Amino acid sequence: MFKLIRKIEDLNSWHASNSKAIGLVPTMGNLHVGHLSLVNKSLNENSVTLVTIFVNPKQFGPNEDFAEYPRTLERDCELLKEELDKFSGKELVVFAPASTDEIYPDGFSTIISVNGISEILCGADRPGHFDGVTTVVHRLFNISKASTAYFGQKDYQQVKVIQRMVLDMGLQIDIKTLPISRDEDGLARSSRNQYLTTEARQMALTLPKTLSQIEKLLTSDSWLNSGVEINKILETSLSDKRWNYLEIKDANNLNEVTPNTNKVVILGAFKVDKTRLIDNRLVKINYA
Ligand code: PAF
Repeated sequence: MFKLIRKIEDLNSWHASNSKAIGLVPTMGNLHVGHLSLVNKSLNENSVTLVTIFVNPKQFGPNEDFAEYPRTLERDCELLKEELDKFSGKELVVFAPASTDEIYPDGFSTIISVNGISEILCGADRPGHFDGVTTVVHRLFNISKASTAYFGQKDYQQVKVIQRMVLDMGLQIDIKTLPISRDEDGLARSSRNQYLTTEARQMALTLPKTLSQIEKLLTSDSWLNSGVEINKILETSLSDKRWNYLEIKDANNLNEVTPNTNKVVILGAFKVDKTRLIDNRLVKINYA
């Protein structure tokens, strides 16, 4: 069964008649194969899946693409119905608030802010971005009453920030992360890829290619032995202003790598024209 809900009061009425555990897939819409793989996983694991579609103004900076962000609700619903058709006896509810007031009613004044981890990497480039994310995700967790939420690994820092919030606030929700979905040329799928011209897309491939280069070095030798080669790549890349950052962090907590680190994440943000793209690679390492 498929249902589209546009108002909080209707969502609450629906909750009153639902007794099953809910899997939540929070999105900003303009769904692609990556989102659909999260929805597929939730449909597999839960009787009821709730997909939220809300372009959250609080996570966009003043000069970012909030106004242009693609809003394609009708097409998104068609794609979700096709995904649901692959299952029998499942329920898929889409909550796409009819207006921003449904999420942030008049007088809304709360900000959920996770210190430290929100301020590095994307948080340093986009001040306030993660406060917007955690504020809306906390609200979505509450209104969805979900027991599990599904996120993509492409937004690795986002997942880490949300996991920290869940832990700190004692929220009763299980966070699951699914691998990055890529197009055939290796570019991580993102709603923002559609802003790229053919030429810009070629340039954007610098991002996954550089991450692969570093990954290869880290899998073929220890952290200490591969250091010199990796530092050369980091230095050369970062002298190109299109890189917002290119860093390697402990995958557990995004802290600096230490002799106790056994898994790292290589994270990059790369800007082509006005389009900012992010990507990452998780790699098991031997420190020495
Ligand atoms: O990853 C996204 O699409 C957004 O940051 C999210 C989690 C839906 C919050 O607006």
